[in-house]
Amino acid sequence: MNTNTAHTATLRVDADRLWNSLSELGEVGAFEDADTGLRGVRRLALTDDDVAGRQLVVGWMHEAGLAVRLDEAGNVYARRAGADDSLAPVMVGSHIDSVATAGRFDGCLGVLGGLEIVRTLNDHGITTQRPIEVAIFSEEEGARFGTDMLGSATAAGRIELADARARTDRDGVTFGAELDRYDLVGTQRVPMPVAPYAYLECHIEQGPILEANQSEIGVVQGVQAITWLELEIVGRAAHAGATPNALRHDAELAAALVRVRLDEMVTSGDYGAMLATVGRHETHPNLINIVPSHVLLTVDLRNHDDSEMTRAETDLTNFFHEVEQQVGVTITHRTTAKTPPVRFPDSMQDLVAKCAANLGFRHEVITSGAGHDAGEIAALCPAGMVFVPGLYDGISHNPREYSTPEACANGINVLLSAVIELAGE
Ligand code: GLV
Ligand code: MN
Ligand code: MN
Repeated sequence: MNTNTAHTATLRVDADRLWNSLSELGEVGAFEDADTGLRGVRRLALTDDDVAGRQLVVGWMHEAGLAVRLDEAGNVYARRAGADDSLAPVMVGSHIDSVATAGRFDGCLGVLGGLEIVRTLNDHGITTQRPIEVAIFSEEEGARFGTDMLGSATAAGRIELADARARTDRDGVTFGAELDRYDLVGTQRVPMPVAPYAYLECHIEQGPILEANQSEIGVVQGVQAITWLELEIVGRAAHAGATPNALRHDAELAAALVRVRLDEMVTSGDYGAMLATVGRHETHPNLINIVPSHVLLTVDLRNHDDSEMTRAETDLTNFFHEVEQQVGVTITHRTTAKTPPVRFPDSMQDLVAKCAANLGFRHEVITSGAGHDAGEIAALCPAGMVFVPGLYDGISHNPREYSTPEACANGINVLLSAVIELAGE
């Protein structure tokens, strides 16, 4: 590094510039949310809005002097050369695709925070020993193509490129076709040919813990397990008034039994700290006086403990058979996403904790409730995460998602210190 330690120790990001970038990106795909009366963000992966968001950020990356390249899964890597550019880069990043009802922070803080680190180093004429790369991973949310962390999982080799490309949205459009249509297929191969030296991601917590404990920084020890299921329940349509109960095969009743069983599994505590969400539910023919013949249901399961997750999946599958017998329907299910719990190396947790302490922030160790690209890149190199608190119980995946300008800057200052240390090694 061409500067002394005292200089970098006092280095801080430009909080206003970071906030302005978050706000400007937050206008891409913005919509007025009738539920909350707030302005939300809708940038589903590989839609016009997501691509407009990418163009905005990649433009900023070019302005910051970064060399931008794409891989075969549309993941973006923006590189700032190191003094020894042959060394493996320190990578920071996240995603800018969003769920359909998002706020401005989920993922964007990690990407724009990475950019803000580069801008800050540029401002001070600092060259790090190792290169630094800022990554934007494709379809982290899984909100369009049905599996989360799709881009980073492909970059890390967990999902094969052909499988990723074949993933379809609700209209049957594939991830691959959209990558081609938007010219987002890069020349860099997946999995990543050169593993980063280390990977760091700053993210809004998306939960209530940091706010409740008045912690300014979360030192993330890992990410809990995630399983996504899609159920198709098939019964028989019939007249609501003329069909005796004994002759019904009611797909909606089966769906309700599954939903209640999930709640019992969660509230009993029999499966550890299990969480279950039925977030999508489509019923057919969806008319008041017809017994439903078809239901499509998604189940999102989370658990800190992988063996409890496996037990829950097995017991749930057995319960589907019971419901089939009881209601006279068929239930088919497929697993659309599955990731085990990830624990970040102690060395990365220690680094984040040290940087937070050096900056005088109240910090605590926390496990992520949400899935993150860091959980995938952890398969390639030491990975870690910095969390910042959100307000309103940390609500997220909703326009109410909010983190203060100060909280965002705190997180990115921790990220900056950690990146400087890693990039100097
Ligand atoms: C990603 O946001 C997730 O669903 O955890
Ligand atoms: Mn995210
Ligand atoms: Mn998210």
